[in-house]
This record gives sequence, structure tokens and C-alpha cells, in this order.
Amino acid sequence: MNTKPSTFLFSLLLLLRLLAATSGGSLRIFHISTHSKPLSWADEVLQMQAKDESRLQLLSSLVARRSDVPIASGRQVIQSPSYVVRASIGTPAQTLLLALDTSNDATWIPCSGCVGCPGTSVFSSDQSSSFRPLPCQSPQCSQVPNPSCGTSACGFNMTYGSSTVAADLVQDNITLARDSVPAFTFGCITKATGSSVPPQGLLGLGRGSLSLLSQTQSLYQSTFSYCLPSFKSASFSGSLRLGPVAQPKRIKYTPLLRNPRRSSLYYVNLIAIRVGSKVVNIPSSAFTFNTATGSGTIIDSGTTFTRLVAPAYTAVRDEFQRRVGNATVSSLGGFDTCYTVPIVSPTITFMFDAMNVTLPPDNFLIHSTAGSTTCLAMASAPDNVNSVLNVIANMQQQNHRIVFDIPNSRVGVAREPCS
Ligand SMILES: *[C@@H]1O[C@H](CO)[C@@H](O)[C@H](O)[C@H]1NC(C)=O
Ligand SMILES: *[C@@H]1O[C@H](CO)[C@@H](O)[C@H](O)[C@H]1NC(C)=O
Ligand SMILES: *[C@@H]1O[C@H](CO)[C@@H](O)[C@H](O)[C@H]1NC(C)=O
Ligand SMILES: *[C@@H]1O[C@H](CO)[C@@H](O)[C@H](O)[C@H]1NC(C)=O
Repeated sequence: MNTKPSTFLFSLLLLLRLLAATSGGSLRIFHISTHSKPLSWADEVLQMQAKDESRLQLLSSLVARRSDVPIASGRQVIQSPSYVVRASIGTPAQTLLLALDTSNDATWIPCSGCVGCPGTSVFSSDQSSSFRPLPCQSPQCSQVPNPSCGTSACGFNMTYGSSTVAADLVQDNITLARDSVPAFTFGCITKATGSSVPPQGLLGLGRGSLSLLSQTQSLYQSTFSYCLPSFKSASFSGSLRLGPVAQPKRIKYTPLLRNPRRSSLYYVNLIAIRVGSKVVNIPSSAFTFNTATGSGTIIDSGTTFTRLVAPAYTAVRDEFQRRVGNATVSSLGGFDTCYTVPIVSPTITFMFDAMNVTLPPDNFLIHSTAGSTTCLAMASAPDNVNSVLNVIANMQQQNHRIVFDIPNSRVGVAREPCS
């Protein structure tokens, strides 16, 4: 799912495009109008001002500025475990919901005629005048996994969880918050199998070449943050904030690590975990960042519950149970630490390099709606896949602002109620 061919060519093209846009822009600010009829000085100034006005509007849309996209819990809105934002695509604009996924680069959208897409809401490409399929020869086509050129368009297949997706690489305008990104490159899903594909498509917030971040480099400078509301919240009260402007000033950061083999994942250095006041005894190998095996810790918006490698989870769970006392422990679904009596819970602190994040109980206890069962909402990494990877998941991130500052290679976390 994270195989990426070389990104060099595409980055180079992007760089050239940015350079062209920048130099062209600064020239035109002082453009002098030519008119058949000579204008009075006052008219000239007025005209220049009017031109400046629209020019400044254009410039202000090009420099990074505050741009918040409301986020909702998909559980309430579309019965999907992901968090979703609204996006407008095409001309005239069609509004769709997209699931946030920080561990994926590409954006994919179910398109009309899709066979097997789970949702009912699709993008009608034939209704959009700005829609354009990318040809096989386009540089972007070399960035997708398993490209194929059955038709003239660039098609590709990929797996996502237990699903397979076939899509065409296309371009159309996308608008998030107020900023319109013309000719945004994304996958138009034509066929899907399996149940892992989110019904509404996916907004990839990874770092790779086809991601939103790479395509809006001049606008948002590879900086964004989000605040995920409680998964129980039914409103769009969270926010995806794009660009460096208006990100929190007082916030703790931990360095972002880069694994070239899994370039889209946001790895951080988790050092230890504290339950209450006690740093639990976890072998440091449970946290080792290793680019060859993929081991280490990532922050992910698309996973619901935190998974820790077995020795780490066992140590945290045992200390948690010890602190809660001798109430009877039962299991429920994938959770092995549940209680049917009210409990007094200790806090849990993730200790990252240079940043401790203490979670309140709401961020790691899940309460059954029917009965009075309360479970520790974390689990051991599954034995088969990713058994070396710790995943800090979205339930644990609720009501926090998580800042991804790629230029400075760091991730920040601060409490922020947004439910
Ligand atoms: C889409 O982009 C084209 C070309 O950049 C532009 O003319 C059109 O107005 C845009 N449409 C929307 C809805 O922003
Ligand atoms: C996708 O996979 C299917 C089945 O393996 C294959 O028939 C099809 O040609 C592939 N399409 C692309 C675009 O690679
Ligand atoms: C522990 O369990 C015993 C017997 O089940 C009970 O009498 C005692 O009060 C419990 N202690 C605490 C601290 O809950
Ligand atoms: C994190 O907490 C531990 C105590 O458990 C403390 O020793 C350490 O200095 C803290 N780290 C930061 C970055 O505040």
C-alpha cells in the first residue's frame, strides 16, 4: 500500500512550475496598462488600484493564510469509522465528503459509473467542465502504483486494507475551505472490491508526491493541523487547518522521523509510556525506529484505536489494571480490559522525544451505549500484519490539535476541545 516509484521527475516539474508562478507573479504587479484613449492620472491610478486589488487577492490566495476545513466524525455522519471533511470538486462545484487519511498520499474519489463503490455519493465527472483525465505519458502517471494504459487514460490498481481499487488518474479543481486548487490530481475510482474503501473517498494527507501537500506546496507550505472532535459528536465542529498561518504558538513538538521505504507515514519517536505517575517497564526494542523493518511509532488519523506492539501493550494494560484495583476484568470484542462497574481511571502519558502527552480518560476509555461497560480502548498490534508498528490512532487524538510541520520536520500536540 505504500510502494512509491521515484518521485524525482514529478518534484522537479513541480519546482519548475512554482518558480514560473513566482517570477511571473512579481512581474505582473507593476504591469502598466495600455489604452487607446489616454487616461487621466486619476483614472490611471484608479485602474491600477483595481488591478492591484484583484492581484492582491490572487497573491493572498497564494501565500499561506488561515484556512479551516470543518471536520466531523464519519461514525455519525456516514456510519464510517473515519473523520470526514467537505470538499467541492469540479465546475460547477459538486460537494462530497472525503475521509482524512494522514497515512496515504493520493486522494481518490468514487466516480460515476464506479462498480462496487460502497457509497451512494459519487463525483459525476461528465458534469464538470474542468474535469480532465491524465494521459499515460503525463509525469504524474509514473507516480501511481501499477499504472496501466488500456485506454488512453492513466489507470492504476492498488490495494487499501482488504480492498482493491481500480482508478483513473484525473485532474479537476478542488476547493477545501475557501481555497480553490485548480487542476488537482487525484484518482477517480472506477471499481472497488472489499470493504475497506471509505464510502466517500479519501483525502490523502501523506507527504508523498501525489498528495494534497505536494500539490499545494506554494499555498500551504506542507504544514497543516487538525482537531478531531469526539467520535460521538454529530457536528462538523473539528477542523483541518491548512498552512502555517494561525497554527498554535504555544505547543510542544516532537521530531518527525522519515522512513524512505514508507515515505508517507508520519513516524515519531515514542520513548516510554506512563500510567498514572509510573513509567511502565517496556523493553526499548518495542519502540525502536527501524527503516528496514518499518518498526517504530506513527501518528495516524485513519486508525480508530491505538495499537501497541505486544510487550508495550501488555505492560500498559497490566499497570492500568493494577491501578484500577480489583474490579473484575472482562473482555469485549477486541478489548481485553473492560469493567462492568464504575472505575477510577489513571491517566496515560505518551512520552515522546521532547514532548509528553498526557491523555485524559475520555481519550482512552470507551463506554458501551447499552450497558455500563467501560473498556480500555487500546490493543496489542495484530500478530500477522504490522506487528512491529505502534499506531497512535484517532480516538487517542480527539480534542487535541495535532500540527504536522513538514518543513521543520516536527509534530506538535496540544489540548483543544473541538467536539
Ligand atoms: C476551475 O479551474 C478553471 C481553470 O483554472 C477555472 O476557469 C474555473 O473557474 C475553476 N472552477 C471553479 C469551480 O473554481
Ligand atoms: C487491475 O487488476 C485487474 C485484475 O487483476 C486487471 O484485470 C486489470 O487490468 C487491472 N487494471 C489496471 C488498471 O491495472
Ligand atoms: C478487593 O476485593 C475484595 C474482595 O473481592 C474486597 O473486599 C475489597 O474491598 C476490594 N478492594 C478494593 C480496593 O477494591
Ligand atoms: C516527561 O515526563 C517525565 C517524568 O515522567 C520527565 O522526566 C520528563 O522530563 C518529561 N519530558 C518532557 C519533555 O517534559
